[in-house]
Amino acid sequence: MKTNLTFILSILFIPILISAQNEIKIIPNPQQIEVGEGFFTFSNTTELIYNYKNKELTTALSPLFLKLNTSAGIKLKASKYKNKGNIITVSLSDKITNDEGYELKVNPNEIIILAKKPSGVFYAVQSLLQLLPIEIECCTIIKNIDWKIPCVSITDAPAFGYRGIMLDVARHYMPYEFLKKLIDLLSMQKMNVLHLHLTDSQGWRFESKKYPKLTQIGAFRKGTPLNLTYDYNSRPNDTLYGGFYTQKQLKELVAYANSKFITIIPEIEMPAHSKSVLASYPNLACLDSSGKPFAYPSNIQDEYCTKDSTFIFLTNILTEVMDIFPSKIIHIGGDEAGKENWKKCPVCAKRMKDEHLASVDELQSYFIKRIEKFVNEKNRTVIGWDEILEGGLAPNAIVMSWRGEQGGIDAIKQNHKVVMTPGSYCYLDHYQSEDASEPTAWGGLTTLSKVYSYNPIPAELNTKQAKLILGAQGNLWTEFVPNSKQAEYMIFPRSIALAEVTWSNKKQEYSDFISRLLPYLKRLDQFNVNYSRHLFDIKMKTYVDSTSNQIMAKVIGIPDNYLVFYTTNGSVPTKNDRKYIGPIPISNSTILTVGALYQDIMVDKIQKTFSINKATGKPSELKTEPSKYYNKGGNQAWNNGVLGSNSRFNDDEWLAWSGQDFEGTIDFQKTEILNVVKIRFFNKPSSWVYLPSKVSLFVSDDGIHFKEIESKSNFDFSLDGVQEISFQTKGIKANYIKIIATFYGDIPKGNPGEGTPAWLFVDEVSIE
Ligand code: ACM
Ligand code: ZN
Repeated sequence: MKTNLTFILSILFIPILISAQNEIKIIPNPQQIEVGEGFFTFSNTTELIYNYKNKELTTALSPLFLKLNTSAGIKLKASKYKNKGNIITVSLSDKITNDEGYELKVNPNEIIILAKKPSGVFYAVQSLLQLLPIEIECCTIIKNIDWKIPCVSITDAPAFGYRGIMLDVARHYMPYEFLKKLIDLLSMQKMNVLHLHLTDSQGWRFESKKYPKLTQIGAFRKGTPLNLTYDYNSRPNDTLYGGFYTQKQLKELVAYANSKFITIIPEIEMPAHSKSVLASYPNLACLDSSGKPFAYPSNIQDEYCTKDSTFIFLTNILTEVMDIFPSKIIHIGGDEAGKENWKKCPVCAKRMKDEHLASVDELQSYFIKRIEKFVNEKNRTVIGWDEILEGGLAPNAIVMSWRGEQGGIDAIKQNHKVVMTPGSYCYLDHYQSEDASEPTAWGGLTTLSKVYSYNPIPAELNTKQAKLILGAQGNLWTEFVPNSKQAEYMIFPRSIALAEVTWSNKKQEYSDFISRLLPYLKRLDQFNVNYSRHLFDIKMKTYVDSTSNQIMAKVIGIPDNYLVFYTTNGSVPTKNDRKYIGPIPISNSTILTVGALYQDIMVDKIQKTFSINKATGKPSELKTEPSKYYNKGGNQAWNNGVLGSNSRFNDDEWLAWSGQDFEGTIDFQKTEILNVVKIRFFNKPSSWVYLPSKVSLFVSDDGIHFKEIESKSNFDFSLDGVQEISFQTKGIKANYIKIIATFYGDIPKGNPGEGTPAWLFVDEVSIE
């Protein structure tokens, strides 16, 4: 019967060879689309025929019931038997080979959904909903809309079985309701894993019944300066910050995720990143050479000691965790263990001797293997960050490759499964645009197009090896993400690009992806998603026009068919502002913001601040070349009239030196009157970036003999960001100035990068 039906349908269904992408806009892109003729229209007489005794199938279909009801006011009738007319038939069939695959056929009178499992039906429904007008995502009934979809035949299945997003709820606590919203949104893009980073030095978020201090003490910290949390005890203020999820909440969350075919993988960090635990239970810390626990909080102690009580604690915790989270995969962290205390601790020394371990790397391997054995006994598998390779991989562990792809490749060569999350493609805590007004992020630049360009299968792997790659995941670490609104900004739309990478992994042109993303963003609007509007990686280049001698600002990277507008007061441009038609001459100090619009949606923007002053564009010289990593603006960037970003130092304006002084000279080419001389530096000790220890200003009439005017020192290192050092020169006359900024020196003990030379960042000089 089924074969006959398929046969009849296939002759009735005559594909038209027009570009599917022009008509059907589904994200992630289905593997195969054939567009037919005509439409299927939903109405109150539409019947949904399926085995409604199958609960999981009912769950898979519920978004269709719910959305048609809420937005269209259409109540689908569920029926077990097939009637004539306007019907949707859903059946499970082994004809579909992929567990999550589906077929969706839309004919004028019938929609046919075929899948192997309910998850496939859920994904067919997600595609179907994207065929409906965007108002289907609305939360109230919308009148005067034809709820119809084009006839189409879609055959689809994911390229990878693991399609994930990691959210760090430890560095900043994220509200429970936000986790549900995230699950909703990820499921719409056919993602199937939410990895929750539940514990870290800055906070413990999992309610343990057995160890209540973890949430009484470990879930709260004092000190969230400027919402940045590099460290548990970084520059404290007095506000208590934190939160945790109860076991009841997490159970509910798991069930909620399950109803959207998303697995929540819990992560309990070990052996490092554990200061929040050591604050709660200090006996789990290593001993110092006198046999006392290391004083807490200490800057370096963030590992558990390898004593037996640590393993008792962790196995008890994991038992509670596994009771709440049915996920087959349990994440046990494993990253960034410095292991310094292990080298000094007599208990760890004894452990190494007893277990014949030659190094602290082998001690970490022993630690992870011992935990893995316990987790395996409970019929679960561990996954860990790629450091778990060091000292020997635990026998059954899955590796999450984050320091590039090499860890993943090495694990595969040892026949282990891998999830790819390389920083440069998958780290959502990186900046996504060069726009100077971006919120502070970790660093790096991972644009939407960069994420989209990712292929989780490294070229050097053969087909058999490639099968060990389960998929890929985007990671949002939240040191610089203080709330859920900003988390949305960092996740979307980059996670949508990753959804397409992991589901389709069939490279469409980026412009094709964008053509489907743009209407999809309007769907996200219905959910009030604070997605980022940086779709094109546009850049603003500045140069001096050779005829007019004027500074010009040119915007590059916007496709031709977008309208571009600009403002000069820092506001976000709208279509009522001035139209950008070519390079803009800059004659005054101004904040220039240029934005590209798609219909009314801002799809990219870039901002730069110009400071036009007596130093701007004058011949200048640097005694020492800046670092090749931070010289994008060229040696003149420190007096080109364009300010570096206030929140980041890796843009194309900031110049930097490592372990060297800055010495710059400007030739005014005439006698100039100097009232105020200012110069900007960047301070971010957590990233090894320090203000100078001293800044000195010199003047000269001949460019050879310089006289010191003033030196300044004792700067405030407690605040991250730009600091402008200014000299009141009160009308002094000079033909040249020289500024020497002495680099900070070696980074002091107890700070990130201790013992190595500090970086010195400079941009820009301004003279009134
Ligand atoms: C990591 O980013 N530390 C896994
Ligand atoms: Zn120890």
